[in-house]
Amino acid sequence: MEKKQKNRPLVIGLAGFGTVGGGLLKVLESNADIIERHTGRSIVVRKVLVHNIRKPRGALPEGAVLTDNPRDLTDDPEIDAVVELIGGIDAAKELIDRALDQGKHIVTANKALLAEAGLPLFQKAFKKKRIMRYEASVAGAIPIVQTLKESLAGNRVQSLMGILNGTSNYILSEMTTNGLDFDVALRQAQSLGYAEADPSLDIDGQDAAHKLVLLIRLAFGVHYPFTALSIRGIRGMDRMDITMAREFGYRVKLIGQARIVGDEKPENGLPRIEAGVFPALVPRRYLLASVGGSYNAIRVEANAAGSLFFHGRGAGDLPTASAVLADLMAVARDERPNNTGFVAQDLPVATVASPEESVSPYYVRVMVADTPGVLRDISGCMAAEGISMAQVIQKSDEGSGVPLVFMTHETSAKAMRSALARVLDLGILKQSAVCFKVLP
Ligand code: NAP
Ligand code: HSE
Repeated sequence: MEKKQKNRPLVIGLAGFGTVGGGLLKVLESNADIIERHTGRSIVVRKVLVHNIRKPRGALPEGAVLTDNPRDLTDDPEIDAVVELIGGIDAAKELIDRALDQGKHIVTANKALLAEAGLPLFQKAFKKKRIMRYEASVAGAIPIVQTLKESLAGNRVQSLMGILNGTSNYILSEMTTNGLDFDVALRQAQSLGYAEADPSLDIDGQDAAHKLVLLIRLAFGVHYPFTALSIRGIRGMDRMDITMAREFGYRVKLIGQARIVGDEKPENGLPRIEAGVFPALVPRRYLLASVGGSYNAIRVEANAAGSLFFHGRGAGDLPTASAVLADLMAVARDERPNNTGFVAQDLPVATVASPEESVSPYYVRVMVADTPGVLRDISGCMAAEGISMAQVIQKSDEGSGVPLVFMTHETSAKAMRSALARVLDLGILKQSAVCFKVLP
């Protein structure tokens, strides 16, 4: 029998006292009056789980106890909800699994866990009739999980496209506007609390890909296996390409995209989904091009609502805590669980469109010796794959060769890969070709 909730404080066990956990404690304190006005209850932190109990850290809320034993949270009968902000997969999964077994509600910001190993947890939460909310796991403060799950639930979503990683966006913005080197900008993003504990998840695109898997689940009601996603991050981004892109009228952004290709309503009810994470040149006139710093943005095309654009801080302590807190307040209101947004809990596996079929214009930069016939030979390689050039710029010798930069008309990823292999075979490249998609 459920305990009577009304007016009794919601008692939570907080797992993780890092960037987001620390932010949550701040906002629970500073906004306590607002929380109570909205929910009729206060939220009380009873236990705080950390990895290293001896590490010096900020003060705990009154009455809260620090522990390094997950069971102190999961098995405490006074705790109503466990907030998982430790990150990673194994320990977090174990914690949530046990907490659900013990009848706790769950709030988490852990996109890696939910994207790679979330399905059994959603199933267990359903079976146990527990709330499992995860607004902070996608795009920080932007309320996109709730929006897709509820506000846009009556729509057929056709596409999603966005900037889903604050760290990468911060790095690209700093390289673009302040001329910072990649490594310096990354260190700044880490010190501002934007990066994952392992920042390769940010710069290699996996973090954005985790978020994309969750968005696909919410928008299309299918499970898109993380391993099926085409993922490319911004590691090794060269300032020269950012500068060249500007000359052509573009900004370089790390994009996550999912769209229905072909028949929207096929007989088996499962449209093909083309999805991926990739750095791209975004036309300066697009709203996405002006999303800077740690901000994220998501454009949704839906058949009834039309085009929607969401913009806000994608990382950092308080913005992320804002989303965690909203979830906790839903738990405090004792809302009926609606964890996936769909009645069926066994979501079908997505019909995955091959990334090779994906069609786009491209930006290509090659470093070559300034000799007659080079441009002709490269155009020949492109033409052999049916690719036509839209614009070409040749810069002066950089010491490491002449940068030859061109934009192509739309072509498939497969044709571009084959054309670049032909260019490589010419034996004229001073370094590997650089190639990015261009948003049309
Ligand atoms: P963080 O600053 O590295 O903090 C992690 C906290 O968890 C630390 O307090 C750490 O303990 C504790 N911890 C780690 N592993 C543990 C374990 N096995 N057992 C017990 N405690 C453990 O991480 P964060 O940036 O707050 O991120 C937390 C989660 O939120 C991650 O899933 C992340 O992806 C997600 N998220 C982060 C942001 C952001 O802007 N940072 C935004 C959205 C979502 P110690 O203090 O003892 O080391
Ligand atoms: N590391 C993540 C980012 C945190 O930079 O976007 C927010 O999910």
